[in-house]
Amino acid sequence: MDFITIAKTRCSIRSYTDKKVEPEKLEKILEAAHVAPTAANLQPVHLIAVQSEDGLAKIGKAANIYGAPLAIIVCADHNKAWVRPFDQKQTGDIDASILTDHMMLQATELGLGSVWVCYFKPDVLRREFNLPANLEPVNILVVGYAGENFTDPERHIQTRIPVRELVSYESL
Ligand SMILES: Cc1cc2nc3c(=O)[nH]c(=O)nc-3n(C[C@H](O)[C@H](O)[C@H](O)COP(=O)(O)O)c2cc1C
Repeated sequence: MDFITIAKTRCSIRSYTDKKVEPEKLEKILEAAHVAPTAANLQPVHLIAVQSEDGLAKIGKAANIYGAPLAIIVCADHNKAWVRPFDQKQTGDIDASILTDHMMLQATELGLGSVWVCYFKPDVLRREFNLPANLEPVNILVVGYAGENFTDPERHIQTRIPVRELVSYESL
C-alpha cells in the first residue's frame, strides 16, 4: 500500500477478535515509533506495550480498550521534553502523538485494526502502572485484529471538512 492508501484505509476499530498480535508485527509497530521525529531529537517518550491478561485488565480499569489483545500506553517524559524559550511551550504531548500516529499507520499497513484512545483516567493508569511523576500517559494505542469491517477508505468526503475549509493560502 502506498502512503495515502494506508492513511485512507485506517479507521477506528472498536471490536477485536481474540487473535494475538504476532511478535514480529509488534516489533514493526515499535520500530515505527522508534524512527519517529521528536523536537530537537530529545525523545521524551516512553512506551508500555501491554499484552498480558493482567496488564490488559489493569488498563481496563482506566479506559475502554474494546477487548483488544494489545494496548500501547504512550507517555511523555516531562523531564526530557523540549521547551520553546519564547513562551515555555513544552512539546512532549506533540512528540508522544507523532509516535502514536506512526504506530497506528504501521498497524494499518500490517492489516491490523487500531483505535487511538484519550478517554482514560490518567490517575488510574498512573497507579496501576506505577508511573513516576515525570511520565504523563498521553495516549493509548489499541491494536488487534478487527472484529468488524474497516470503514470505506473513501468516507472522508463525507466525514471530514472540505479541504478548502481546512486550508487557507496566504495569497488568497
Ligand atoms: C486524540 C484522539 C483521541 C481519541 N480518543 C478516543 C477515545 O478515547 N475513544 C475512542 O473510541 N476513540 C477515540 N479516538 C478516535 C476518534 O474518535 C476517531 O479517530 C475519529 O472519530 C475519526 O474516525 P476514524 O478514526 O474512523 O477516521 C480518538 C482520536 C484521536 C485522534
